[in-house]
Amino acid sequence: MGESGRSGPDESDHRLGMGPVSFGGPRFVNLATGLWPELLSRFISGLSPAESRINALGPSLVSEVREPTHSFHVGIVFPSEGGLVGLIGGYCVLDEVEIHTFFLHPDWRNRGVGSDMLRRFLSGCQLSGISAVHLEVRSRSPARDLYIRQGFSQSGLRKGYYGPEWSLDGQSDDAVVMVYTTGKLISPPDPGQKLMEYLTGGRL
Ligand SMILES: CC(C)(COP(=O)(O)OP(=O)(O)OC[C@H]1O[C@@H](n2cnc3c(N)ncnc32)[C@H](O)[C@@H]1OP(=O)(O)O)[C@@H](O)C(=O)NCCC(=O)NCCS
Repeated sequence: MGESGRSGPDESDHRLGMGPVSFGGPRFVNLATGLWPELLSRFISGLSPAESRINALGPSLVSEVREPTHSFHVGIVFPSEGGLVGLIGGYCVLDEVEIHTFFLHPDWRNRGVGSDMLRRFLSGCQLSGISAVHLEVRSRSPARDLYIRQGFSQSGLRKGYYGPEWSLDGQSDDAVVMVYTTGKLISPPDPGQKLMEYLTGGRL
């Protein structure tokens, strides 16, 4: 069994028979709808315990997805592969978004999928009137470079924020707080709802 922990007969159940198969590329789905919470739960159970732990992917996330309180969660789906390969989630309050989860299954990393979907996510924010997108990232994470390439800049530093239990190498780390500003100064009503419509409506 590899780092991802995917093995045995259930390893790819979450990818089977779900979603349309007519388009090959990745797209977003609203994880709060239909069977997606259940499929998210299966997706998480196919991950290694370490991946789940350090990325805070567990039952409480599934509960939040089922009954969101200001939160949004969009799944990253490869219809040609039949299902969920990752997700972006967080909170939308007024015209600001805070990303808490940006995760791709280990089998799908380093192929440009994350960059592509984050770019689309940020376009959706821009189009729906979100003014700023915030996130925090471990100072030593390679994802930090990805965010910088996409236009995020550092807005703060939380020293020692991540304890050893939040890393694969058992070392604590600082959290770098980053912000992406869209340039939108006047937001329409309910930009969070509009964002979900843009992301899941196939317009990006
Ligand atoms: C972060 C993540 C969603 C990026 O998606 P991706 O499809 O792997 O990224 P891309 O292939 O588009 O781009 C690769 C870039 O991502 C970064 N990256 C590569 N492997 C990574 C990893 N295991 N974890 C985080 N970032 C990684 C690197 O900066 C890489 O840049 P490079 O092209 O100069 O090598 C994905 O790697 C992942 O799920 N990582 C684990 C969870 C995580 O760290 N999430 C971010 C929390 S703030």
